[in-house]
Amino acid sequence: MIYPLRYYGDPILRRRAREVTDFGPELEQLAADMLETMHAADGVGLAAPQIGFGVRLFVAQEVVPTDDDDDDAPQQRTEHVLVNPVITLREGQQLGRDGCLSIPGLFVDDMPRDHRVEVEYQDLAGVKHSLSAEGYFAHVLQHEHDHLEGILFLDRLPARRKALFMEEHRTELAEMQREAKAFLKQQGQEQPKPALAGRR
Ligand code: NI
Repeated sequence: MIYPLRYYGDPILRRRAREVTDFGPELEQLAADMLETMHAADGVGLAAPQIGFGVRLFVAQEVVPTDDDDDDAPQQRTEHVLVNPVITLREGQQLGRDGCLSIPGLFVDDMPRDHRVEVEYQDLAGVKHSLSAEGYFAHVLQHEHDHLEGILFLDRLPARRKALFMEEHRTELAEMQREAKAFLKQQGQEQPKPALAGRR
């Protein structure tokens, strides 16, 4: 199922997400729904808090060219599901385009990020793995991991640039905050549903 996205202004985006401890069908379903929601929104990554689950889980899509020398060669898309991810190594620097499904329509073109990261995580069965990434996919992994810490991309801008960004996009950000508030109000009026642990 495709979930509605939580927008800038929703407090769940500002909370540190909780460790996943229950591995089972509910978690598998959540991951499948997150991938579906990510693709429907045309995103390359989605963290559980962005659809209202305060747990440490994100999905991300890696695009690998099948031939580095041919721009028209088909690309291979790999979907990753990372449970309880921890960034264990950060190396180098890069500048890249950043945006967020929870802050629709707003982008930064030269966001400073680490060039290479290593991430330890669990899969949906709880088995531990590690993943090494560089360039754009490393950028995506850092962005999604930040969501689990309650950090949004605009927080990663140097202070002066963040202030300019907030000022320049004051109207759009205020509109997102209004939408987030209206969504929560409407949701509060609905009957509470049986929910996966960690749903808030
Ligand atoms: Ni995001």
